[in-house]
Amino acid sequence: MIHHTMKIPGERVIILDFGSQYTQLIARRIRELQVYAEIVPYHVTVEEIRRENPAAIILSGGPSSTYEQGAPHAAAELFSLGVPLLGICYGLYQIVRAYGGAIESARSKEYGRAFITVLNDSPLFAGLSERQQVWMSHGDKVTSLPAEFTRIASSENAEIAAIECRERRIYGVQFHPEVHHTLQGRDILKNFLFGICGLTQTWTMRSFIESSIEAIKSEVGDGTVLLGLSGGVDSSVTAVLLQRAVGNRLWCVFVNNGLLRKNEHLQVVERFKKHMSLNLIYVDASQRFLRRLKGVTNPERKRRIIGREFIRVFMNEARKLGRFDFLAQGTLYPDVIESVSTKGPSDTIKSHHNRVPEVLQLIRSGRVIEPLKELFKDEVRALGRELGMPPELVNRQPFPGPGLAIRIIGEVTPERIRILQEADDIAVTEIKKAGLYEQLWQIFAVFLPVKSVGVMGDSRTYENVIAIRGVTSVDAMTADWAYLPEEVLRTISNRIINEVKGVNRVVYDISSKPPSTIEWE
Ligand code: XMP
Repeated sequence: MIHHTMKIPGERVIILDFGSQYTQLIARRIRELQVYAEIVPYHVTVEEIRRENPAAIILSGGPSSTYEQGAPHAAAELFSLGVPLLGICYGLYQIVRAYGGAIESARSKEYGRAFITVLNDSPLFAGLSERQQVWMSHGDKVTSLPAEFTRIASSENAEIAAIECRERRIYGVQFHPEVHHTLQGRDILKNFLFGICGLTQTWTMRSFIESSIEAIKSEVGDGTVLLGLSGGVDSSVTAVLLQRAVGNRLWCVFVNNGLLRKNEHLQVVERFKKHMSLNLIYVDASQRFLRRLKGVTNPERKRRIIGREFIRVFMNEARKLGRFDFLAQGTLYPDVIESVSTKGPSDTIKSHHNRVPEVLQLIRSGRVIEPLKELFKDEVRALGRELGMPPELVNRQPFPGPGLAIRIIGEVTPERIRILQEADDIAVTEIKKAGLYEQLWQIFAVFLPVKSVGVMGDSRTYENVIAIRGVTSVDAMTADWAYLPEEVLRTISNRIINEVKGVNRVVYDISSKPPSTIEWE
């Protein structure tokens, strides 16, 4: 069930996933408290769980109703492992069900903000306020406590809002401690992990670096490693970590597809080749990509063409260098979680092209090294900082593989790329100047092939439109359009219209995801 590339230092928590939209959030919160947590589907066997030797198990929430047909249930043996348990929402019902209590569909459902009252001296609420704001999201509720259990909190709509069986170290809460709106949620998790389970804080990026370098060294031996570098956070951190482990037996190929942001290729080469003396092969393949994209307007076709062309160019370059023993990739934890959670539409609607099986033909061992496979994005950033990488690289916003091609609506032409690069650069520069860059998930410009009329000086113009897209998000599954200060929007607009030839109108995108997507194509 769990395939680690390295030995995880210290104790671990296992989160059994019953399909809640918040499951990943539970793992992130626990890791923020410096305890390693991993997510597994609720149906893994108890034997597999035992082998992982968890110090605690958390049962996540989930969208099902406990008594409905086909509702997911934890295996009965889970409750005799003797490992401390915390059930959250649906996870609470699993505990109640296993120990013989009762759950009913609640007449008044509770969604959103609520207040609980703490009823006794439970270690789960040690040192916390008697009345606390929490975040609820449930349609069922516990109506009768199992034997051996005590009620430790109540809310207006749920008399039994939290329970404990102190001797067995089993706890259950109706609300979501992992969500920010549960104001003392972090402290509740802390109480569970440290006060109740007696865990220690061993999950730090420093300890990760040590174990991970060890693991890479022992896997690679004196072999060679090939890595595709995009200049983004994930592949950059992968490169730096690998370089620490295998030195100049790491080779990186950086393909300029002509669809990068303004001057980006220069920055990547400068940083990695000059400053870090990485074995970096830089390929300018702009013309090839442009030729293939000529006349293409369909977004999915653009993606496919760029993906295919990238593999060709990449393999071509790699072949020139000879065969390699290993391939490395900057895959992150959210890409490998085998989760029962419902995935957002972006995974299926748009074809991403992160996996490149063809490249494995060049790899003697046929093996892929993915040193970031255990990490969330914020942990990758922390890792980068710990590795001494500069903030402007570590805090870089995500940039799609197909690059500006999916931000130019309609055909991609050199002129449109130039216009978009200039406009995008102004938007990003002004946002950075205003100190807002790190608060946004993404800020970028989109080229619209729409001509509108304007006046400049005494003459009329008939030029293109640039849309500015700024969003806040935690994981790109959902996003809000960002409410930017008027002066910043004004400066971006003025500068683009005055400085970028070919644009006479700038608009700001005020659509959230869903139903819109972050990118326009
Ligand atoms: P959407 O537009 O689906 O974007 O809301 C969600 C996130 O994914 C990025 N994105 C891509 N990344 N290849 C990529 O590598 C793609 O084809 C692609 N399409 C979207 C987008 O920038 C956003 O952060």
